[in-house]
Amino acid sequence: MEIRNSVALVTGANGGIGKHYIEVLRVMGATRIYAGARNPNSLSDLVALDPQRIIPILLDITDEESVSAAASKYTDLTLLINNAGIGLLKGFISATDLKSARAEMEVNYFGTLAISRAFAPILKANGGGAIINMLSILGKVNFPINASYCASKAAAILMTQGVRAELAAQGTLVVGVMPATVDTEVSKNFPPPKVSPEVVAKEALQAVIDLVEDVYPGEQAKEMAAQLLKDPKALEKMMATMLPR
Ligand SMILES: NC(=O)c1ccc[n+]([C@@H]2O[C@H](COP(=O)([O-])OP(=O)(O)OC[C@H]3O[C@@H](n4cnc5c(N)ncnc54)[C@H](OP(=O)(O)O)[C@@H]3O)[C@@H](O)[C@H]2O)c1
Repeated sequence: MEIRNSVALVTGANGGIGKHYIEVLRVMGATRIYAGARNPNSLSDLVALDPQRIIPILLDITDEESVSAAASKYTDLTLLINNAGIGLLKGFISATDLKSARAEMEVNYFGTLAISRAFAPILKANGGGAIINMLSILGKVNFPINASYCASKAAAILMTQGVRAELAAQGTLVVGVMPATVDTEVSKNFPPPKVSPEVVAKEALQAVIDLVEDVYPGEQAKEMAAQLLKDPKALEKMMATMLPR
């Protein structure tokens, strides 16, 4: 699949990585880019880059009505980029209650699933197209400081595999993107190395062109993925030293 002439939707378009998806899609020649946000007013600078092609849309992926309204309006979609996500930096046991764990599941797992379900028939009608899911290498090994986030991304990784299997017959490519630390506001207190959000967007979109299903953008994610194959227990033990306060 080519990015040129695609019609894309990016969820969480006003976020640190979302903005770069929009910009890279623009440079790569997407025909139309729907920029989804809970507050479309936050997208004015982004839309100003190319108001003809970047269309701000109201979209909360945890709100059924918002999701179905988007799917009934944007029927020309060929590329869905499930980028919206939250990580609330809570431990499993040290968190005072289950609110954060539930909220992370609601956005990262159920929200991503809901929008994929809503747009799957549209992608089929438009020839197959592709879905990119922003996952995390932390869906493969727990980082206790952001423990319940990791569980929600683990659920999203398995959901990505299942959606890929179910949509293969309609010709929809489903790409899972699993970075380590990305240089955005949410990771400002994490130590380096950090991959730039622009590199994440570029590697993910290149994977669509090259028909690659699993993407580990940046060196840190690639090293962790290799370590997970070689000695997953050693990585788990190393991560286990980083506990929530
Ligand atoms: N930064 C990292 O180190 C890193 C590493 C691996 C994976 N990721 C993943 O990459 C994605 C983007 O992360 P980021 O660093 O760009 O984070 P970010 O700057 O916090 O952006 C997240 C975006 O998701 C949106 N969002 C949250 N809940 C939503 C909902 N219910 N409906 C629609 N949009 C919603 C936010 O919108 P509001 O402005 O309305 O809150 C925001 O635009 C996430 O899925 C994240 O888990 C990030």
